[in-house]
Amino acid sequence: MRVLITGSSGQIGTNLGIALLAAGHELVGIDVRANPWTSRIQTHVVDLSAMPLDVGRGRIGPAEIGEVDAVVHLAAHAKVHALVERPLGAFENHAMVTNVLEFARLNHAPVLLASSREVYGNAIARGVPVPETAADFRAAPSPYAAMKLASEGLAASYRGCFGMPFAVIRFSNVYGRFDHDLARLERAIWVFRDRIARDLPVTVYGADKVLDFTHVDDVVAGVQATLTELVAGNPAVVGETFNLAHGSGFPLIGVVDLIATAIGRKAELRIEPARPGEVTWYVADVTKAHRAFGYTPRIPVTEGIPRAVRDAPPI
Ligand SMILES: NC(=O)c1ccc[n+]([C@@H]2O[C@H](COP(=O)([O-])OP(=O)(O)OC[C@H]3O[C@@H](n4cnc5c(N)ncnc54)[C@H](O)[C@@H]3O)[C@@H](O)[C@H]2O)c1
Repeated sequence: MRVLITGSSGQIGTNLGIALLAAGHELVGIDVRANPWTSRIQTHVVDLSAMPLDVGRGRIGPAEIGEVDAVVHLAAHAKVHALVERPLGAFENHAMVTNVLEFARLNHAPVLLASSREVYGNAIARGVPVPETAADFRAAPSPYAAMKLASEGLAASYRGCFGMPFAVIRFSNVYGRFDHDLARLERAIWVFRDRIARDLPVTVYGADKVLDFTHVDDVVAGVQATLTELVAGNPAVVGETFNLAHGSGFPLIGVVDLIATAIGRKAELRIEPARPGEVTWYVADVTKAHRAFGYTPRIPVTEGIPRAVRDAPPI
């Protein structure tokens, strides 16, 4: 099939794009910037948050996209705390979703929409894996989370009004490859590695933070399976929402230890309170994805993080 990936220059977009090409699919990417990792993904450079975008048949903004069989919408400002500091960025995320849904409606394409475990906030009971039904807009912890919820709602409304097939996939702390571009996005794992390697203290926000770290290979397998079922019109997938995470929790402080051990150094820890808008505990219940399309995450964090750190270019 021919797939449009938005956010195709990002971490998940690049990993997914390469996997789809390897599986024999055709690919077209949209991003606000060129792909820094590979030249294999054809990328149209478009600001998807510009309103209004010309999203007429076969077009999105200035880029000729042509017919597609499905859209995977990943483009976003993806850092939660950055959108606490600049809430307008969350509105831009919602504008991107609006443009992409319009494109999909006019092009009769199903949409796979990237969402986040952030939608569960901190009102969930610690210790119990979180099912998809636990999301509640009243518990939205940040503008990022609120706009992810709004976007999920908008996609549902397109199904209600126009019969547009969609599915929502909620990720959690994805790591593993094409994510160490520290100058662009400060992802915790790579900030930790950078500071440990330079013998600088490592600040952890939230002493008891436990999160569900997901290797990108598990994510890509899950997205591909969801996409296949969505395009096939599987009623267990169309209009549904899925947690695509590892399904287990790991302390953030433990991640620092994993990285220090992997590079043969000692970490000097500084603990600060969790920052406004941050989720401090999350373990996904992935039963629904397993039942619907056999989703089975395979890479535990104790294996995945040391491997990611070893495989990344040295500092
Ligand atoms: N990586 C994670 O841990 C994680 C967790 C939960 C949810 N998500 C969601 O998954 C999706 C993909 O995340 P990622 O980790 O690959 O992030 P990423 O930042 O690596 O990729 C997002 C891409 O979107 C692009 N983009 C930003 N603004 C744009 C605009 N105005 N127009 C066009 N493109 C634009 C960026 O340039 C970037 O390449 C996002 O929607 C994110 O919110 C990611």
